[in-house]
Amino acid sequence: MPRLSATAAAIPPSLLLRLFERAAGYAGEVIPLHIGDTHLGPPPASRFDRLGLDDAPSCWLYKYGPAAGWAPLIERIAAKLAARNRLAIEPAGVQITAGATHALSCAVGAVCDPGDELLLLAPHWPLVRGIAQARAVVPVEVPFTTPLRAGGDPTAILEAAITPRTRALYVSTPNNPDGVVLSAAELAAVVAVAVRHDLWILSDEVYEDYVYDGAHVSIGSLPGAAERTITVFSFSKGYAQAGLRVGYAAGPVGAIAAMRKLVNHTVYNVPHAVQRAALAALDAGDGFLGEARARSQAARDRAVAALAVACATPAGSTYLFLDLRPFAAGDPDGLLERIAAAGVVLAPGRGFGAAFAGWARLCFTAVDEARLATGIARINAILGG
Ligand SMILES: Cc1ncc(COP(=O)(O)O)c(C=O)c1O
Repeated sequence: MPRLSATAAAIPPSLLLRLFERAAGYAGEVIPLHIGDTHLGPPPASRFDRLGLDDAPSCWLYKYGPAAGWAPLIERIAAKLAARNRLAIEPAGVQITAGATHALSCAVGAVCDPGDELLLLAPHWPLVRGIAQARAVVPVEVPFTTPLRAGGDPTAILEAAITPRTRALYVSTPNNPDGVVLSAAELAAVVAVAVRHDLWILSDEVYEDYVYDGAHVSIGSLPGAAERTITVFSFSKGYAQAGLRVGYAAGPVGAIAAMRKLVNHTVYNVPHAVQRAALAALDAGDGFLGEARARSQAARDRAVAALAVACATPAGSTYLFLDLRPFAAGDPDGLLERIAAAGVVLAPGRGFGAAFAGWARLCFTAVDEARLATGIARINAILGG
């Protein structure tokens, strides 16, 4: 075949393939703790069988729709952004996307040119690196939450990473994988650096509904941030609708208009049916959010208590980030393979940044409580022996 693009070749293959191979040899049920998902179903009112989709008088279900998204969903989101995130965003500043993954891809494309540098505050969500690479943007990993919680200064950490090519920074709170919830003061320090160097802030807030200690603060609500922040949200996490692939971005109208062109040239528009399910979740999902958060917090506490490896209790998200280096004898991949061979898959730390080889991420909502306990017992058996 003709040659493939160097851009695509630069994106590394999944680190999980080898672990899946090892897990396939396990005789019993494999427990997937690598995946960032929930075992819960979505809010009942948002299920397709409750939506009466084919009754829609507009018949939009089978037609092309507006590139921005379905107007009733956009208006409902604008109201939510004002009430819950203190983001004063007009409907033209909201873009519906195929999940936060698509939102971030289009946001990077809207604000960065090939060769620009995007700071990834690390440890970071693995896919954001490939999202940058897919647009020939240079991902620059900046260990952030880990040094911060060890007493580091956010301003100094960021200033040291900035070059004349830096165009934007990616920050997530609550953070995946370590569950760190950034304080308003820490976020203000990030904004100050962005203002000083005229950078875009790409704020990933897909775990806004999973804050257990403290409160979620949207960085875009801080003074000076609104005109340089694109915030992305998702229906995957809070509302347990990951399979529907609905997310959204909110920001300055000009930036969202640029993103909209990229949305239009990738998926044209997000399907109407899934936007209807997302609106139903927003309308009826408040009780669901509270229950899911309480259940997730209980799972977090049980997992922290049960694991043989000490780890910080995360203030938010649905993950534990485990430093397995003391157990790895210099071979972190080998350790994760032995855990996979014992029937549990964890997400390898290297995906969250080069500085985190030897760590692993465990999602404590991926499976129900009984399977989580079984998975942890298997991990402990490998770590202990
Ligand atoms: C931090 C973070 N951002 C974005 C995403 C992507 O979410 P979505 O399912 O909406 O594409 C995830 C999914 O795991 C995530 O953890």
